[in-house]
Amino acid sequence: MKNRIRAAAVVLLAASIAAPAFAQSAGAATYKAKCAMCHGPDGTAATPVGRMMKVPSFTSPAAKAASEASLIAITKNGKGRMPAYNGKLTDAQIKEVVSFIRTLQK
Ligand code: HEC
Repeated sequence: MKNRIRAAAVVLLAASIAAPAFAQSAGAATYKAKCAMCHGPDGTAATPVGRMMKVPSFTSPAAKAASEASLIAITKNGKGRMPAYNGKLTDAQIKEVVSFIRTLQK
């Protein structure tokens, strides 16, 4: 089940790379494919997986106050149950996806 979701995510991501896109829509596509199942499409983690894993909302004051560097570091290295994406996403993709997360915090 998990692997099938991951495989579907990879296909979605590959499709999004093939299409010429602005950085933000590339970040949005990466988010949708890799992050939304836990963090929720709107970043509030109000999904069954998000609740089960107690994923914090990106709209919390703490997440809003977090620096871009720290969001990038957590995405790269993981934290607690948050998987590490170092080697799975490029540095550019991680930067794009963090920029997209910022748009969810407004
Ligand atoms: C398997 C579920 C899961 C997936 C998939 C996932 N995350 Fe997370 N994420 C978590 C959990 C759980 C935490 C809380 C970690 C902690 O504080 O212990 C977290 C925390 C974070 C944080 C820190 C938030 C804060 O308030 O400090 C960032 C940034 C983050 N995730 C980014 C991402 C990005 C970007 C992706 C996709 C590339 C992603 N996550 C995919 C589960 C997930």
